[in-house]
Amino acid sequence: MAAKQSSFDLNHFLATRTDAVNAALDKFLPSEKTKPATIHKAMRYSLFAGGKRMRPAVLLAAAGACGGSDAAAMPLACAVECIHTYSLIHDDLPAMDNDDFRRGKPTNHKVYGEGIAVLAGDALLTQAFEIAAQAKGWSRYSHRDLIIELAHASGSLQLVGGQVADLEGENKKLSIAELKFIHERKTSALLCCSVRLGGMSANCTAAQLQALTDFGYHVGLAFQVIDDILDVTQTSEQLGKTAGKDVAVQKATYPSIVGLEKSRKIATQLTDKAFAALRIFKGRAVALEALAEFLLKRDK
Ligand code: IPE
Ligand code: IPE
Ligand code: MG
Ligand code: MG
Ligand code: MG
Repeated sequence: MAAKQSSFDLNHFLATRTDAVNAALDKFLPSEKTKPATIHKAMRYSLFAGGKRMRPAVLLAAAGACGGSDAAAMPLACAVECIHTYSLIHDDLPAMDNDDFRRGKPTNHKVYGEGIAVLAGDALLTQAFEIAAQAKGWSRYSHRDLIIELAHASGSLQLVGGQVADLEGENKKLSIAELKFIHERKTSALLCCSVRLGGMSANCTAAQLQALTDFGYHVGLAFQVIDDILDVTQTSEQLGKTAGKDVAVQKATYPSIVGLEKSRKIATQLTDKAFAALRIFKGRAVALEALAEFLLKRDK
């Protein structure tokens, strides 16, 4: 399936939310002139290089589905984008994926050197928690809950753990189960956390949070399957990052294990599971629905 017809204007949603997130990030981050200027320039270089802002988008959409506001969710939306950007800066380092291009520009370490790139990643990760702590806290979800949510998704059990397993899986023949273990952690965890934080910022019910978790988990998995497919099918210009890298370093990916056609099928099935999770919202989750479809059909 994975084709939802609705009159929801996703382009407008994405354009307005991206502008709002960019403006909020600009306020939260130290200016380029703040000493030591190099680190603040480096942090801003990657943060404002033109990412798709998908984690903030799903976070704000989840907040909306639960009757919340963009204003209440915004610190959390900015926090997840800082964590995501840090993970990309480190992912691109020579010690990891060794990539020269990201978001259509030379990678952070290519411009600022490896030492500053490591530190820019560290600083964005830390900044994320300072920003998240500015969210209000709600009757069902305290500050403590929000911070634990972010820390858990980012740490050695989730994002970092997934990156470790990804590195250790290079040049190995992995099973689908082993690959799924990696994808759940390196990609799905932060996407799922974003969706959940959106719901929490709207003081959502336990049933809503469960539905959002289910949605985020499946959208997150589909996201990495598509990322793996695009690495094979798109050009570097289109992606804004070096295409064909996964084959070159023999990364385990869905296309390398099951082929392109089956990979597309799996991404569609995962997206259908994500749609199904939204049923309890009874039509109030149109933005999340449109985003899931957009993420499946994206070409970069
Ligand atoms: C790329 O994420 C890294 C993955 C987790 C697959 P995005 O495709 O969201 O990258 P940006 O933020 O748009 O640059
Ligand atoms: C990156 O996965 C996941 C994280 C940064 C946590 P990839 O290595 O596949 O992402 P790209 O293709 O470099 O964006
Ligand atoms: Mg990687
Ligand atoms: Mg990479
Ligand atoms: Mg990739």
